[in-house]
Amino acid sequence: METKVIKASGDENLDRDIMMEAGNLIRSGELVAIPTETVYGLAGDALNPLSASKIYAAKGRPSDNPLIVHIAEKKALFKIAETVPEKAEILINEFWPGPLTIIFRKTPAVPKETTGGLDTVAVRMPVNDIAREFILSAGGYIAAPSANSSGKPSCTTAEHVYEDMKGKIPLIIDGGKVGIGLESTIVDMSGEIPCLLRPGMIDIGMLREKIGEVEIDPSIEGVMDENARPKAPGMKYKHYSPRGELYIVKGKRERVISEINSRCADAAKKELRTAVMACEENIERYRADIVESVGSREEPGSIARNLFSVLRDMDKNKADLIFSEEYDVPGMGMAIMNRLVRAAGHKIIDTDK
Ligand code: TXA
Ligand code: MG
Repeated sequence: METKVIKASGDENLDRDIMMEAGNLIRSGELVAIPTETVYGLAGDALNPLSASKIYAAKGRPSDNPLIVHIAEKKALFKIAETVPEKAEILINEFWPGPLTIIFRKTPAVPKETTGGLDTVAVRMPVNDIAREFILSAGGYIAAPSANSSGKPSCTTAEHVYEDMKGKIPLIIDGGKVGIGLESTIVDMSGEIPCLLRPGMIDIGMLREKIGEVEIDPSIEGVMDENARPKAPGMKYKHYSPRGELYIVKGKRERVISEINSRCADAAKKELRTAVMACEENIERYRADIVESVGSREEPGSIARNLFSVLRDMDKNKADLIFSEEYDVPGMGMAIMNRLVRAAGHKIIDTDK
């Protein structure tokens, strides 16, 4: 299959033809990759069970891993969510459209193929104009996981999507580099007490400020027990990983720098290709084959925006051994470290110990 890449502007009038073509593909059961404000999504018709199986096949993703349903208008929610609890309503009014996914009990309109067999459905209303126009032209209910191949870092540019989906899908809509760079926050509102399943730009403090008590799924903090079952099934899989071996090095600044430099020097003797993922403020201090800046600690959003593309660069640069600083920054730190710890397969070197 040939994969076309078309640039969109976000202007409704200029993009009319693209949206028509993309909408027709979705209605005929095909897949289209689209930009959103978080990461690129691999879109199919959420109400068509065959589209869900196509998505799983294109990503190489296990089919017990449920998909998020994307809508463009609030009224679309009532066809797919059985009930909308009062606190969910508060979050919707506050954060939609935007990078927040909410889990509801589902109606029979949503096929089990889309929800990986669950009785609940994850719903999100993106704020990105291209995504919204696309959803409307494609019938209003779009299932879209991140557009990466399963296990790889999520895609923040159309080029990343092309690397992973070339020959597998007919169309990629190119909306440029995404603004946020990490996937949406997921909060489960289907039970008694709201529960955070995946951290994102909308952080736990922002949720608690609006609705009070919010639990944190045990899979998010600390090293996950082999037997623990995270409530978001996708969070149990190996994820975001580069091919090289990645370690996170934490502790005081000077200790981290000298630990990484000494490990890189040792590795060079074994003819391994070494790489460091550092903040802008520290890059001059490292000695390795590849030293790449992830962003500035002064601007945590820059680290979130660049993280996945830097992880992809590690593969392009053929790094064998990779060291990353810890980015325990305010606001987005929890989301950044959640992705980085998974990418490193929980391998953390603590220089304070
Ligand atoms: O920002 C985003 O959310 C992006 C863009 C494309 O919108 N999408 C995304 O989808 O990250 P995906 O499929 O890569 O991640 C969805 C996560 C998975 O971990 C999945 O297990 C969880 O959401 N999930 C989906 N439906 C669920 C449900 N009913 N209950 C619990 N977890 C669910
Ligand atoms: Mg994903």
